[in-house]
Amino acid sequence: MADFETRDPTSTRFWDERFEKNFTPWDKGDVPGDLQRFVRHSERPLATLIPGCGNAYEAAFLAQQAWQVMAIDFSPAAVQSARAAIGEWGKHVVEADFFKFTPQFDLDLIYERAFFCALPPEMRPAIVARWAELLPTGGLLAGFVYFNDTADASRKGPPFSIHSDDWLVLMAANFELVEDRAVEDSIAVFAGKERWQIWKRR
Ligand SMILES: C[S@@+](CC[C@H](N)C(=O)[O-])C[C@H]1O[C@@H](n2cnc3c(N)ncnc32)[C@H](O)[C@@H]1O
Repeated sequence: MADFETRDPTSTRFWDERFEKNFTPWDKGDVPGDLQRFVRHSERPLATLIPGCGNAYEAAFLAQQAWQVMAIDFSPAAVQSARAAIGEWGKHVVEADFFKFTPQFDLDLIYERAFFCALPPEMRPAIVARWAELLPTGGLLAGFVYFNDTADASRKGPPFSIHSDDWLVLMAANFELVEDRAVEDSIAVFAGKERWQIWKRR
């Protein structure tokens, strides 16, 4: 396994180093089936933000379906990797910090995969507050949540799992759960522990 100089996942260097060394064990390499089904059943195209997009396969997929999409990542190496991975669709990938950037359009949907669980637990209230700030009433947060209800499980990471009770408390103030299902095509790291969920902004 590669040796790493950086241990702080809130720093861009942490992620740069891992993309540069080609150590990306969270990377699925394609578009999750649950997102494909969601798009198939959507009544209309949704203007979508993908925070912490990594290789951004989903951005290419959504753009191919003529959905408006902006995928952001604060790691220059991640953005470079995404542009190599998705070719012409890389124009939808922007180097930006989730907590500071201004969206280029009004959002209907924020898509979540392996961004929330990439950051340490103390960042969670700020992430959820930012989702709530970016979405209008009725806007959707859809994606994958990495659960583990064993005591202390969330201390090790990334990925940092979350206890399902803590997740519900965090989300309940601003969001309503509208879909929750097991995931069938997880990669090994998340298998049996992630769920596909859709939350509606109150
Ligand atoms: C575990 S990777 C997941 C990448 C991608 N979502 C996927 O499913 O493969 C987490 C990503 O979040 C990015 N990230 C972390 N903090 C960020 C921030 N504040 N703003 C934007 N991107 C961030 C990292 O650079 C990294 O590419």
